[in-house]
Amino acid sequence: MELELIISEIKEKLESINTIQELANLKPMYLGKKGKISLAMGNMKELSIEERKTLGQKVNLVKSEAEKLFSVKEEALNKALIQSKLAKEKIDVTMPGVKFNQGTIHPLTQTIMDLEDLYVGLGYEVAEGPELETDEYCFEKLNLPKGHPARDMQDTFYINPEWLLRSQTSPVQVRTMLKKEGKPIQIICPGKTYRRDADDATHSHQFMQCEGLVLGKNITMADLKGALLEMAKKILGEDKEIRLRPSFFPFTEPSVEVDVSCVKCGGKGCSMCKNSGWIEVLGAGMVNNNVLRMCGYDPEEIQGFAFGIGIERITMLKYGIDDIRNFYSNDLRFLKQFKEAK
Ligand code: DAH
Repeated sequence: MELELIISEIKEKLESINTIQELANLKPMYLGKKGKISLAMGNMKELSIEERKTLGQKVNLVKSEAEKLFSVKEEALNKALIQSKLAKEKIDVTMPGVKFNQGTIHPLTQTIMDLEDLYVGLGYEVAEGPELETDEYCFEKLNLPKGHPARDMQDTFYINPEWLLRSQTSPVQVRTMLKKEGKPIQIICPGKTYRRDADDATHSHQFMQCEGLVLGKNITMADLKGALLEMAKKILGEDKEIRLRPSFFPFTEPSVEVDVSCVKCGGKGCSMCKNSGWIEVLGAGMVNNNVLRMCGYDPEEIQGFAFGIGIERITMLKYGIDDIRNFYSNDLRFLKQFKEAK
């Protein structure tokens, strides 16, 4: 084939090529070892030196022209490929994003976090104890010997005569005192508790409490009142007041029941507070001397107070929740309401 024709033929063929693959297939047909350009030199042997030289130059020219044509086309195809990729992968930043379902903090967890926030800020440490507890720590060392009538107040899940699911967080008081061996204590202990109650709107066989224990020199009932007033204000609102009413718990003497000014009427009297203006929220008192002694403390040296907050109770009051089962039924319609809870 005439060398001159080769270039115009390449040009023509390149016009109709649209992919790199086609280009790769075409290229060796002209520039390969057995391509048309090499073949054009086939009869070199029969030529004179002079003729060989001119043909050689001509072939080289055609070769480099052909290479140029192929590389220009290759570049153009690559560019077009990138352009089409860019067009395909273009992101429309004005499109609405994909919404991920975001969890919410469970209202009981939120109350515990708020309590920890408050009491840690007042110098308390957060203590922990096991949910599977001994009768000794849950009752005996809390001044509730076997057969004591007050044990009936807490219908307990016994594993065997010695072990039980704790019916209160108070055994953490015992554990902490035994560990601290007569030294001052300032703890809260939030955690799960269990009782053999039939579940209804106000009872749950598993619920939560937050125990508090402060022991030191010259700790008085006034300190107790201060610690609980702060709590009522933090959890239920700055406008809240509390009052202490005499009561009975085996592990405290004197014992008190703590009321908070009604979360609904603010103290004027309504159906919620049965017109008293007050709502009972928790039990507390000065740690009973018997408990101190059984746990290695000398009541002459050190004394203090304890309290037990019902996490569900106080959370129900805070949000006006009327059925404790809502906390445990995992109904998203209920849980989602606490998105902004703080
Ligand atoms: N443990 C008591 C209960 O479950 C609550 C309680 C009352 C805890 C008085 C205390 C306290 O530490 O001093 O009913």
